[in-house]
Amino acid sequence: MKVRKAVIPAAGLGTRMLPATKTVPKEMLPMVDKPVIQYIIEEAVASGIEDILIVTNRAKSAMDDYFDYYPELETRLNQAGKDKELSEVRRAADLANIFYVRQKETKGLGHAISRARRFVGDEPFAVLLGDDIMRAQRPVMGQLIAAAEKYGASCVGVQKVSTEAISKYSSVKISPLEERIFAVSDMNEKPTPSEMFSSYAILGRYVLTPDIFDILERQAPGYGGEIQLTDGLQTLCKQSKMVAVDFEGRRYDTGNLKGFLEATIDFALDHPETGAWLKSYIKDKAELL
Ligand code: UTP
Repeated sequence: MKVRKAVIPAAGLGTRMLPATKTVPKEMLPMVDKPVIQYIIEEAVASGIEDILIVTNRAKSAMDDYFDYYPELETRLNQAGKDKELSEVRRAADLANIFYVRQKETKGLGHAISRARRFVGDEPFAVLLGDDIMRAQRPVMGQLIAAAEKYGASCVGVQKVSTEAISKYSSVKISPLEERIFAVSDMNEKPTPSEMFSSYAILGRYVLTPDIFDILERQAPGYGGEIQLTDGLQTLCKQSKMVAVDFEGRRYDTGNLKGFLEATIDFALDHPETGAWLKSYIKDKAELL
């Protein structure tokens, strides 16, 4: 089993980030000096992925433009001797083989994934949610791919969350296999504390086998009237092997304002051009509070 392809669902409406996301896709909001989606593509590439499909919609063409060449801008940067800017602009367009498909109706994450069937064909594939950025020593998707390949199984990335927070995620029923890796036998979407299987929640990263497509095609709408990926994964984990990786790294949900701001601060503190300045700015501010 070799994972070479990735799907990035990025066709959500981004209602938690309105009004900013009325015309700018949330995946294109700047995270310090790059759009959110570039971090996700860089993680996929660092995990050995070669081909990437982004699931978009009619309001998201800024993404396709971003990963394209822009000759007029590049000529201008070249003439001005702005070599660093030129190479960054070019690097974004050359990161990976990027393909696009439109989700014509916003019918949920499971429906968005099902749009990838023709691109994926008959091989296992990675899924990285378009608004979840990971900050980690080892690429998080690489950690999942290693487990999926070792066990010949589909795989979900999980971490422990508080009992209050579990109702925002999917909870998994698990039994240990080795350090940080579990077998998955069941799951449920947005459980109440009494319904949850464990405090391990699925957080934005998956390796799926193509069996998921037949399952999603038959999947009835679930929570919120949408075709939920979790409902499909529940069937998948019962009919074939699935593992969960308690991944090393921090996940940021940049699709909500607080997650977006936390990520901005942490990435800006790490950035060579802003780190030292931001540290002293925060210290000065804290003294005034
Ligand atoms: P989210 O629920 O985080 O995104 O979906 P959203 O629907 O844009 O969020 P709101 O409106 O702020 O609540 C998780 C992932 O699934 C994608 C989103 O783009 C995000 O990456 N998605 C969701 C789709 O691609 N299509 C859909 O129909 C729904």
